[in-house]
Amino acid sequence: MTTVLVTGATGRVGRHVVAGLRAAGATVRALVRTPDLAGLPTDVELIQGDIYDPAAVRRAAADVDTAFLLWPSFSAEGAAPIVAELPKRVVYLSSLNASSGGVWGDVEELLRQAGKDWTFLRPGGFAVNAQGWTEEFRTGDVVRLPYPQAGRSLIHERDIAAVAVLTLLNDRHIGQTYDLTGPEVLTQAEQVHTIARAVGKPMRVEDLSPAEARQAMLDLGADPVLAESSVTYWASLVDNPEPVTTTVPELTGHPALTFADWATEHANEFRILSTAEVADRYVTAFRTGRLDQALALSAPEVVRVAPLETGGEETEVKGIDAILENARRLNADVEFLAVHLVGPLLLDDRFAVRFTFDELNVRTGQRSHTTKLSLVTVTAGQITREEVFYYTPPTGS
Ligand SMILES: NC(=O)c1ccc[n+]([C@@H]2O[C@H](COP(=O)([O-])OP(=O)(O)OC[C@H]3O[C@@H](n4cnc5c(N)ncnc54)[C@H](OP(=O)(O)O)[C@@H]3O)[C@@H](O)[C@H]2O)c1
Repeated sequence: MTTVLVTGATGRVGRHVVAGLRAAGATVRALVRTPDLAGLPTDVELIQGDIYDPAAVRRAAADVDTAFLLWPSFSAEGAAPIVAELPKRVVYLSSLNASSGGVWGDVEELLRQAGKDWTFLRPGGFAVNAQGWTEEFRTGDVVRLPYPQAGRSLIHERDIAAVAVLTLLNDRHIGQTYDLTGPEVLTQAEQVHTIARAVGKPMRVEDLSPAEARQAMLDLGADPVLAESSVTYWASLVDNPEPVTTTVPELTGHPALTFADWATEHANEFRILSTAEVADRYVTAFRTGRLDQALALSAPEVVRVAPLETGGEETEVKGIDAILENARRLNADVEFLAVHLVGPLLLDDRFAVRFTFDELNVRTGQRSHTTKLSLVTVTAGQITREEVFYYTPPTGS
């Protein structure tokens, strides 16, 4: 049975690559930074590590013949020693822009020079980039963007993954470069209206000046060179829209998914969820071991109130990162063997869930049960507060 190393396995494309490989009967190993949050199926072997760390990549690539490579940086600096650690056969998630240089062209060149059996997947813009408009959809009725008439052939992440899976599992794709796009060109304004139809909420599109667009990207932490080149690129697409290729249907044997397909699948992300929907997703996330999905329901500034370890007093922790850090510290020696849930019980803008954890202390070998009640507050479709109460049954009960 083929074992495939997947990097970027928790990402928007990578999750579908993992699913497709498993469905095809391959064994999957994933290099992940935070195994607790990976939310990958239990038969996926997780190797903890950073893609920029050659030793971690060496561990992940041991006894593996084939790898799916996602290089997450905007620069190829540091990529050469990583490429050297990869197996001989590499399918690299590049970009339609690879031939105009930049990180994608540089990583492709490194793979060629290293003598790998490479396949380059060069997708155009991802449909999933439209997630950048979720806030505007949830809180208003206007999306402001530069060059609304720029025409793009956005590709569905599942189509990229489908091509990745079939190229990873068949050597006839060695040495091939595949330009991958969606099946049609839509202007940016048409994309907004397509999502609006799927969500059932009319939206207006307003022009953002190039300078405002550049600044908005910089405010989000984008690299200045990327911000500049993106704005120039969008301007060029008004008169010269992106091409449409037929590679996806030719390779997969099915028509490429449309942007309307994408919008229908992702519509819920663009509307404010009711408290009942948040509660339902929260419970499902814990039942299926998808802590990452439970966290995605929280506002970034969520507050968690819990009793101190010493008992009695309460402590407040604010923000997802601080909450995770606190949980890691408290549970450093704990392995969770199982979780049982009762709930959710809905109370207006709040819901309650009772958890019972079957725990193993890996240091002492002692097994125990902890029961806690979480009282969760939902504001505008996001979890903003979680109050935790621990429950110790009376002795002898
Ligand atoms: N968006 C576009 O329009 C577009 C177009 C063409 C090509 N691309 C290329 O597609 C890739 C992005 O794919 P995506 O959208 O599926 O990714 P994504 O959803 O942004 O996820 C990034 C993945 O990379 C992992 N990762 C990030 N930094 C890491 C590190 N230091 N060590 C180990 N793993 C790390 C993340 O793991 P964690 O769980 O640890 O965060 C996650 O699994 C990029 O290389 C991009 O250049 C994008």
